[in-house]
Amino acid sequence: MEIVETVAQARAITRAWRAQGQSVGLTPTMGYLHAGHASLIRRAKEENDQVVVSVFVNPTQFGPNEDLDKYPRDFARDVDLCSSLGVGLIFHPQPEAIYPPGYATYVEAPALSVNLCGRSRPTHFRGVLTVVLKLFLILEPRRAYFGLKDAQQFFILKRMVEDLCLDLVMVPCPTVREPDGLALSSRNAYLSETERRVAPLIHQALVRAEAMARAGVTQVAEIKSAMAEILERQAPLIAKDYIEFVETEGLTVVEELTRDTLVAVAAYVGKTRLIDNFLWKGLDNK
Ligand code: PAJ
Repeated sequence: MEIVETVAQARAITRAWRAQGQSVGLTPTMGYLHAGHASLIRRAKEENDQVVVSVFVNPTQFGPNEDLDKYPRDFARDVDLCSSLGVGLIFHPQPEAIYPPGYATYVEAPALSVNLCGRSRPTHFRGVLTVVLKLFLILEPRRAYFGLKDAQQFFILKRMVEDLCLDLVMVPCPTVREPDGLALSSRNAYLSETERRVAPLIHQALVRAEAMARAGVTQVAEIKSAMAEILERQAPLIAKDYIEFVETEGLTVVEELTRDTLVAVAAYVGKTRLIDNFLWKGLDNK
């Protein structure tokens, strides 16, 4: 396994692989890898000759008052995990390699960034789109693997790939959870023992929503209030940021559950903001 920090080295390695006719799968990450990341890497390994993992805590996707400085890092452990999974290359750039002095170019998809996480994190998706486009241009993967835990991120990136005619396949991967339902996240490391104990309520609110939808409830307002009631059981330890229902094409808010819908929650558990969701298959697509 190779570990490189410069754009030129990363490009040369993936270029050589492609020249030998080997397909390249990419799993972009911000490091502090867990079993969710590992599931993406394993899938990439199954479907490609070579797997690249990028480990880069991307400064442009953090807002001014967010957790960039304290975002958890353990590169040595990430290297061990990648090596055990058969990764061929870790691309681990320093911020200046991606954003050198004078850097001025950004990618945006404003129409898809107004709801859900875009509302409370107005510059977040601009940072995600920009860094992921750069990774695609540097590494030129055949396939790229993303988790549906961050479903809005997946839909926006998929739109970018279509809009900019990028020649790669976006592969969505299911959310990996703890036994009690909490979605794995690098940010779970911030939780105190008490916070960790109540955090699965976010998943429970989604489970309740799915059960209501299966039972035939179509009014979003009714489902939302049942979800809010579940989160409120642990107020003020858990504080809702949003509970939103959006259709999966334009990510616009829906009032009724008829078509494919992303049901998403963001909540603060103490000071830690966690997100989770499920995809409801509309009648047309069952
Ligand atoms: P990060 O939060 O490190 O996540 C990297 C990838 O792992 C993302 O595609 C994310 O959806 C996926 N992932 C995280 N938790 C998961 C879980 N419990 N189950 C399945 N997949 C999971 O997302 C980012 O980094 C960044 O925004 C990035 C795309 C790397 C751009 O900087």
